Amino acid sequence: MALVDPNYVDDGALREQDRVDLEDFLSDVDRAELDGRGVPFFSGRERGIMAFRRIVNRLSRGRQGNATIVVEGPPGAGKSALLAQFQEEISHLPPTESGHREWLPVFLPANLAEAPREIARAVDRAISLRLADEILRSESQPAPSLIARFQAALGHKAGIKNVREAACKLAVRGGGAFGMSIGPSPHEPIGSLADAVARRAEQWGDWQIVLLIDEAQQISDKRPGDISGTLSSIHQGAISAPISFCAFGLPGTWAALEGVNVPRSLGGADLRVAALDERATCIAVSRCFEAFEVRNVQAWQQAILERSANWPQHLATYMVSAMSEIRRHSPSERRLDARTASLATAMAHGDEGRKSYYARWLEGLTRGHGRFQGYAEAVVSQFRANAGQISWEDVKSALRTRNSAVSDEVVDQFTTMAEHSGLMRRNPVEPTYQMPIPSFAGYLLNEPLPEITEPDYPAEAGSPRNDD
Ligand SMILES: Nc1ncnc2c1ncn2[C@@H]1O[C@H](COP(=O)(O)OP(=O)(O)OP(=O)(O)O)[C@@H](O)[C@H]1O
Ligand SMILES: [Mg+2]
Repeated sequence: MALVDPNYVDDGALREQDRVDLEDFLSDVDRAELDGRGVPFFSGRERGIMAFRRIVNRLSRGRQGNATIVVEGPPGAGKSALLAQFQEEISHLPPTESGHREWLPVFLPANLAEAPREIARAVDRAISLRLADEILRSESQPAPSLIARFQAALGHKAGIKNVREAACKLAVRGGGAFGMSIGPSPHEPIGSLADAVARRAEQWGDWQIVLLIDEAQQISDKRPGDISGTLSSIHQGAISAPISFCAFGLPGTWAALEGVNVPRSLGGADLRVAALDERATCIAVSRCFEAFEVRNVQAWQQAILERSANWPQHLATYMVSAMSEIRRHSPSERRLDARTASLATAMAHGDEGRKSYYARWLEGLTRGHGRFQGYAEAVVSQFRANAGQISWEDVKSALRTRNSAVSDEVVDQFTTMAEHSGLMRRNPVEPTYQMPIPSFAGYLLNEPLPEITEPDYPAEAGSPRNDD
């Protein structure tokens, strides 16, 4: 029997991760924070979660290799949020069937992904912190086996007398406590990840390690300390420790992975994230209003759905601007009522955020290429004329309307940059392109968003008697 049920449908109910403090929610910018748990109001993404759970079951049965997950998507599509959701999933997993190992998510910066010494450091550190946490949570004297594991994880140099004090120091200060950094010493010879693992067989063998790599489009093996083939050896299951990885990045992540010999014919899961489906967007918005117990939100929900166009980052922007406008006009955090606030003002703030999101990526696209803005406008008109799907030749003819002498190289360069900035997306199976964020077209063509009129709130909802 499978360890976890791979079938997953978001039922829309509030979860622990949705119980966020309002001030914290309002202070978040529109990017997922990676603090070890899922982002609030995370919704949908059933395909991604199911793929993750299938791989979890495979690893749990002791299979290694082909357990790699790659998630590619344009800026603001929700890659980091999905990473955080994988962390959240991991934190609820029972030990593996084979080996009875506990799951250990390890966050690994993309620029260290081919550096075995840094991977060893990140894993050693995660194990030490996890054991420190266990020690601090144990009510009486921690079990001798736990103390021994903790000391082994820290290495001999730590010179610990009081284990609880050491655990506390570590929990507060992280891996740099004790005037030393946890992980391999500068003298430890590490020629490959297998080398590092060989010396840690005992400590690492207790854990089912999942490396989580964000911004994975930056992966390369050309930095000092890199050993080519590190990720590839994990992917192939050639490492004797139970370790796998998930990579999340912008379009271009696949090219980066192929550059370090992780093959595109993956065997694990190859996921693309783009807009949410309508149902997931609705669920996210209602989770948010429900969690903060806001009244009279119907028209607000509608406006947010319309303006965010199912795009996760816009959704986050509009939810924060709505909640902050409602909070500003409510007498207290405990009695939030949308009726007291202006929907038009809130949406205008959200529109600003949405505009600056596009401006940022358009700037990335046009930097050093004066003509690319005109090209982008021509291409989105082409998308409109062709029901949202165009070929490379169509891209070229669109560019030709602005510059009849445009070369194939420039078309390729524009196409690549347009993919990285979220304007276009290459279809995985056929050589055509789509717009992952259709509302980007409206921005480029300077189209106004629908006017907002303040809603007519039902009269009875205005009576405090009915509110209570
Ligand atoms: N499935 C989801 N449900 C609800 N909110 C989401 C979802 N996915 C992402 N979000 C919200 O959208 C915003 C953008 O998401 P995120 O930071 O994960 O995007 P990203 O793809 O990592 O972007 P970037 O490429 O800029 O790093 C965040 O505030 C996040 O909380
Ligand atoms: Mg991100």
